Amino acid sequence: MRSIHRKIRHWYTRYGRTDLPWRNTADPYAIWLSEVMLQQTQVKTVLERYYFPFLEKFPTLEALGNAPLDEVLKMWEGLGYYNRAKNLHKTAQILTQAQGAAPALPSKIEELIKLPGIGKNTANAVAAFAFRQPVPVMEANVRRILCRIHAMKDADEKALWQIACEMVDRQNPFEYNQAMMDIGATLCTSKTPRCEACPFESICQGKSDPERYPRKKRRTVPTKEQYIMINLYNNKLALSQRQGKFLHGLWGFDAIEVPLCAAEEVGEVTHTYTHFKLRCKVYLYDELEPTHDHYFTPEQIRQLAISKVDEKILNLYLDTMK
Ligand code: ADE
Repeated sequence: MRSIHRKIRHWYTRYGRTDLPWRNTADPYAIWLSEVMLQQTQVKTVLERYYFPFLEKFPTLEALGNAPLDEVLKMWEGLGYYNRAKNLHKTAQILTQAQGAAPALPSKIEELIKLPGIGKNTANAVAAFAFRQPVPVMEANVRRILCRIHAMKDADEKALWQIACEMVDRQNPFEYNQAMMDIGATLCTSKTPRCEACPFESICQGKSDPERYPRKKRRTVPTKEQYIMINLYNNKLALSQRQGKFLHGLWGFDAIEVPLCAAEEVGEVTHTYTHFKLRCKVYLYDELEPTHDHYFTPEQIRQLAISKVDEKILNLYLDTMK
C-alpha cells in the first residue's frame, strides 16, 4: 500500500478539494459540525447556505450548548433530518454542563461514540480530521470505492470496516480520508467512473467493469397521503409546534383525518424523504372563532423553524392569495 498511499497524497495535493473550510480549521467543534451537516447533505448546500451562518451564530461548543433549541432548529431550517440538529445541541449541552467554561469534544473514539448523534463514522471522521488519528472514515463514496477495488457486489458493514482499517494511511490519515471522499465524489462516481485517472487504478479489481460494483439495490419508496388544513383567523395562520417523533420541535400546519366540508381545496405539495414520499392535499378554512393557540402572519412564520413541506404549503397559500 505504500506506493498507493504516495499516489493518493499526490493526487489529493493536486486535485483534492483542499480549500473546503472544514479542512482548513483545527477547531474540532467546526469539524464535527461539518461532518454532521455532511451526513445527509451535499457539500454545495452545506457550503453555500448552512456551515458559515451556523458557526457565526454559535461560534463555540459552549455557545451551542447554551443556546435554546428553537434557535438551533432555525439555523438548521431546510437542511432536513432535524434529529441531527437536536443531537448536536444535546451533545453540546452535555459537554458544556459537564465541563463548564470552554468545553471541548473528547478526542477518543470510545468517548465520542457515546455522545448523541455520533455514530462510528462521525466518531472516526472527527478523530481523523480533528485529532489526526489513524482511522478510516466510511460513507457512501468510500463504500463504493472499496467495493470496486475488491470487486465486491455486496459487502456487509463489518467486511467494509475491516478492509478500510487495513487500507488507511496511518501516517497521513487526514489527507488519505479526505482524498477517499474526493475520489468517490469526482472519479469513482456511480456512473462513468474515470478509472484511468484514479490513484487506485493499479490495484483495482473492479476497473474492467466498475459499474457492476457494488450491485445497485432498487428501492421503491411508498407514498404517504395527508390532508393538511390551514386554519386562518383574522388573516393569520394557525401553526402548532410538533410533539411527535417526526419533525419534533418544528412548527407546522395541522394534518387532519378528514377535511372539513366548508374548507376550500388550495392544491397539493409533495416532498421526498429517504424512506417515503409525502403527498399533501392542502385545504384552507377561514375560522369565525379561533380554534388554535398560535396564529402567525406569513412574515412571522418566516422567523420560525418550519420543515421544507410546511414551507411549500406556506408558499402554496401565498400563491393562491396573489
Ligand atoms: N462528507 C463527509 N465528510 C466530508 C468532508 N470532510 N469533506 C467533503 N465531504 C464530506
